[in-house]
Amino acid sequence: MAEFRVRPAHPVVCSITVPGDKSISHRSVMIASLADGVSTIDGFLASEDCLSTMKAFRSMGVRIDIPDEASLHGPGAPGVIKITIHGASGGLTAPAGPLDCGNSGTTMRLMSGILAAQPFHTELFGDASLSKRPMKRVIAPLTAMGARISGQGDEGRPPLAIDGQALHPIRYRLPVASAQVKSAVLLAGLFCEGETVVTEPVATRDHTERMFQAFGIQLRREGDDILLAGGQRPVARDFTVPGDISSAAFWLVAAAAQPGSELEVRNVGLNPTRTGILKVLTRMGARVEEIVETEGPGEPAGRLLIKGTRLQATVIGGAEIPNVIDELPILAVAAALAEGTTIIRDAHELRVKETDRIAAMAGTLRAMGVTVREFDDGMEIDGQARLQAPLEPLPTFGDHRIAMAGAIAGLFAEGETVIAGAECVDTSYPGFAGELARWQRGGAANAATLADGSVLPVVVKPGQPTTGVVVAIDGPAASGKSSVARELARQLGFVHVNSGAIYRAVTWAVLAADIDPVDQAAVVAALPQLQIACGVRDGAGTVTINGHDPSEYLNNSEVNAAVSAVARVPEVRAALFPLQQGYAAMANLVMEGRDIGSTIFPSTPYKYYVDASPEVRAQRRAAQGFADSVAARDLQDSTREVAPLRLAEGAVLIDSSDLTVAMVVARIVDDLRCKGLVG
Ligand code: DC
Repeated sequence: MAEFRVRPAHPVVCSITVPGDKSISHRSVMIASLADGVSTIDGFLASEDCLSTMKAFRSMGVRIDIPDEASLHGPGAPGVIKITIHGASGGLTAPAGPLDCGNSGTTMRLMSGILAAQPFHTELFGDASLSKRPMKRVIAPLTAMGARISGQGDEGRPPLAIDGQALHPIRYRLPVASAQVKSAVLLAGLFCEGETVVTEPVATRDHTERMFQAFGIQLRREGDDILLAGGQRPVARDFTVPGDISSAAFWLVAAAAQPGSELEVRNVGLNPTRTGILKVLTRMGARVEEIVETEGPGEPAGRLLIKGTRLQATVIGGAEIPNVIDELPILAVAAALAEGTTIIRDAHELRVKETDRIAAMAGTLRAMGVTVREFDDGMEIDGQARLQAPLEPLPTFGDHRIAMAGAIAGLFAEGETVIAGAECVDTSYPGFAGELARWQRGGAANAATLADGSVLPVVVKPGQPTTGVVVAIDGPAASGKSSVARELARQLGFVHVNSGAIYRAVTWAVLAADIDPVDQAAVVAALPQLQIACGVRDGAGTVTINGHDPSEYLNNSEVNAAVSAVARVPEVRAALFPLQQGYAAMANLVMEGRDIGSTIFPSTPYKYYVDASPEVRAQRRAAQGFADSVAARDLQDSTREVAPLRLAEGAVLIDSSDLTVAMVVARIVDDLRCKGLVG
């Protein structure tokens, strides 16, 4: 049985992605399987749950192509895959035997709606946990539509036996706020003649409605009613599933509850019926930014930025519960780490999830020394600064979200937290263990540089000289590259060289000699008189001219205005070329400039181009208190003949407009780790 061993982590600054959304992945297979034509689904979550849905449709005659099927399970399995679904145009065929839904309530409940209308008999079964989950909630409305469906277990629980029938539409008011029930009725409604209406007094996640619309099915929303005309068939299309915010939730809380942590989650689904956790964490004091980058078709997606703090207690209940239902286990961990008492109410549904999540989370937190009072529909959690690792391994009851919530709690607990039965995380988040390990490693590395000034482990390959490694950082004025280069050099233990300072030093000397910087011939004539010397002191490059250190003048307004004109002069560039290369003989470098990756060190494999929007750069320069026309300099630097500013071949482009320095550095360190420079 797999287990997690978790040690306390230090603040972490990083940028991550999470695997595809589970709810959306399920629906994409179902709807594309019913469609006319061939669909590709990119970003499909290759978790056990979603694979259960896929296998079920394959058993009913749908051809689904997967690139490397053998590698779907076990360690190293890809979190997401691109699949091709050859739609059955509504013509599913009877499966040879019962359909295995595994641990997946979504598979069983949503498929019931489809199967109730097929002209054949099916049976659906699941694992021990799914066999205990209530199914009457879908059996009741489907029966009202004319379905013959029954639960073979106690009180209508699984397995389900379904004799497909012609169905008729109904108006159905959801007695429990359940997107699965809503979806089952809407899917059944596709096969009816006439209009099916589902009324939801409390909004639930609307992925089915969005997926219908993306696949060409018309439906309307009027107040709380969703109206669907029957007899429509989905039209195949290519669809991309965004990252799952419910998976991101674990890292969002890990970052939010840790002062000093900064996290970016890229390419994550930002459907408003799923982002309740952001509101809760904001109420608890975390700094959260949501940046929607695409509105679909189908689903909005984008980036999340979150900064850690000492969280404050809150109250979670009422209409927001369906929006945070999957996140309540990890929010219970946030509550345990917050100041004050957090109250969670109206969450009776938690008792009938993969396990009784109220009891499971209360047990997890108590084992870590937290006081929890349980109610039928929630709990009250007394927050505290530090948790204790539990004496015994924490049980997960086969529930993926309990396992992951326990692991995140372990990042904040004194001692080693052991989670037993951790393999269940594959239900929704293949790759969680790898992220957890990275989080712990990254945390340790960052903390080392924060606390004692030590550095990241740079890997020196056999035969490689111990100096001469160059990380090139290019970009336009005020893109943030200097702060990034300085911090990166500190973390790597490399020397930071600002090549712009050398051009500025020459410009200062030109101005000091009363030479018009635009007079190229005069500048060229002055060059032989300048003794330019480059060196290294206190981890940074230095430059002197004729024995003078011009540092204090390098950013004044005269130099700012003149430097690009001087830097355009080919003879100036030629003179400075060997000096810049000479730095690499002295030390490993993080060197910033305009042409480091393209001209000075074109063969380094470590090239980055840091950019930001013109507005952000102008603001940054103004905030530094410099009078500088960034746009004018950009124009000169990128239009000159020799070594103009441009993206070097092989350079990684990073737009820093919405990123902090720490995030840009973390991204570069990630890439350096992939390239083997950092261990
Ligand atoms: O990075 P900075 O803003 O301090 O650079 C000042 C000027 O120097 C910039 O406008 C262009 C020039 N420069 C260059 O041409 N090549 C470099 N590698 C670095 C700077």
